[in-house]
Amino acid sequence: MNDTARKAIAIAYNSNSGNTRTVAEALERALAADGAQVTSIQVTPESVKRASVLTEAADTVLVGFWCDKGSCTDEVAEVLAGLSGKCVFLFGTAGFGGEAAYFDRILSSVRAKLPADAVYLGGAMCQGRMGGGVLARYEAMLAEKPGDARIMSMIDNFHAAESHPDDADLAAIVAAARAAL
Ligand SMILES: Cc1cc2nc3c(=O)[nH]c(=O)nc-3n(C[C@H](O)[C@H](O)[C@H](O)COP(=O)(O)O)c2cc1C
Repeated sequence: MNDTARKAIAIAYNSNSGNTRTVAEALERALAADGAQVTSIQVTPESVKRASVLTEAADTVLVGFWCDKGSCTDEVAEVLAGLSGKCVFLFGTAGFGGEAAYFDRILSSVRAKLPADAVYLGGAMCQGRMGGGVLARYEAMLAEKPGDARIMSMIDNFHAAESHPDDADLAAIVAAARAAL
C-alpha cells in the first residue's frame, strides 16, 4: 500500500465549459485506482457550502479551476479560503498555454488565496479549448487591423487550444498530482 492508498481525498473543481471537469475526472479515476478514497464535487455558487463540508472531511484537497482573467473564479476563491490546515494540490486549465511561466503565474495567483496555514503540495495546468465567441471576437479585431501580428498569434493560439485538454495533458497532470501527494 502506498501513501495515496491511505488518503481521503476531496476534489473540488469549477468548470464552465467542461475542460477542467475532464481533468478532474481523470484525477478521480487515477487516484481511486491507486486505492485512495476520493470524493468529488463541482463547485458552483450554490454548492460552495457543500464543497466546504466535503473538503473538511478530507486529508488532502485537490482544487480545480479554469483561468478567469489570470486567476480563478470567486467561488473557487471561497473554497480555497476555507482550506485552513489542509494539504492542497491545485490543477487548472487556461486558454493560453505553451509557456510554463504563464501557468506558474496563474498558479501563484490562485495559491495566494489559500490561508497561511494550508500546506501547498504543488500544482499543474494545461491548455483548454475556448468557445467560438472568442474566435469571432479575434476575427472582428483582425478585420479592424488586418495583418496585426498580436491578433494573428491569438487566433493561432485559439486553434492550438482546440485539441486540449488531450491525453498527454491528462497524463501529465495525473503524474504531477501522484508525485505531489
Ligand atoms: C470569462 C473568461 C475569462 C477567461 N480568462 C482567461 C485568462 O485570463 N487567461 C487564459 O489563458 N484563459 C482565459 N479564459 C479561457 C479559459 O480559462 C479556458 O478556456 C478554460 O480551459 C475553460 O475551462 P472550463 O471548460 O473548465 O470552463 C477565459 C475564459 C472565459 C470564459
